[in-house]
Amino acid sequence: MQIDIITLFPEMITTPLAQSMIGRAQEGGLVSINVHQLRDWAEGKWQVVDDTVYGGGQGMLLQCEPLFKAVADLKSKNETSSDSYVVLMTPQGQVFKQQQAVELGQHEHIIIICGHYEGVDYRVIEELVDLELSIGDYVLTNGAIAATVVVDAVVRLLPEVLGNEQSSVEESFSNPDLLEAPAYTKPAVFRGLEVPPILLSGDHAKISAWRKEQALKRTQKNRPDLTQD
Ligand code: ADE
Repeated sequence: MQIDIITLFPEMITTPLAQSMIGRAQEGGLVSINVHQLRDWAEGKWQVVDDTVYGGGQGMLLQCEPLFKAVADLKSKNETSSDSYVVLMTPQGQVFKQQQAVELGQHEHIIIICGHYEGVDYRVIEELVDLELSIGDYVLTNGAIAATVVVDAVVRLLPEVLGNEQSSVEESFSNPDLLEAPAYTKPAVFRGLEVPPILLSGDHAKISAWRKEQALKRTQKNRPDLTQD
């Protein structure tokens, strides 16, 4: 899989994605993640990429020219055999869910545009963007951290990236309506706090029933929105 990210802040992305599982996935050639500076496609001494909003309104928008050039350039360097899929990170997008991480993982080449300032010229969205994505109902200073979140969630699901395949099957949001049950590790008693005895019983049927019940309780407590029909 090839992922190209266009941003004004490459360092906000490269360092986090060089760590741990995603770093190893890159080293092992399972994914190629390339982070690009948008200004590299801007003209002039100051390599300006933004301007004010027509019709009035706050702030600055990313302009068409550098983004159109960047996307065309990166599409021409698509080394995979399938089409490029273009995602824009923006608080105006669909809210990112686990199912979307699964679906994005089906694309061989993804180009992610990180929004900045008040957003991007809408012609970019109409002409270039296949999917507008938000990571939640809050506004970040720019889309770089949001892109990092999306790439992490997508890449860890790729075959061979997650060491233990099982853990992606059992985790929360594989069943989008249920959180995971509480889990414990050694010691069995810590400062007088005991691990629920059923987990030490070796009775797998009982443990499984307990986990289901606890998962439901936790979901009702933390995410009641998931339990409403
Ligand atoms: N840029 C700013 N806020 C964002 C958000 N919540 N999701 C995606 N991109 C963003």
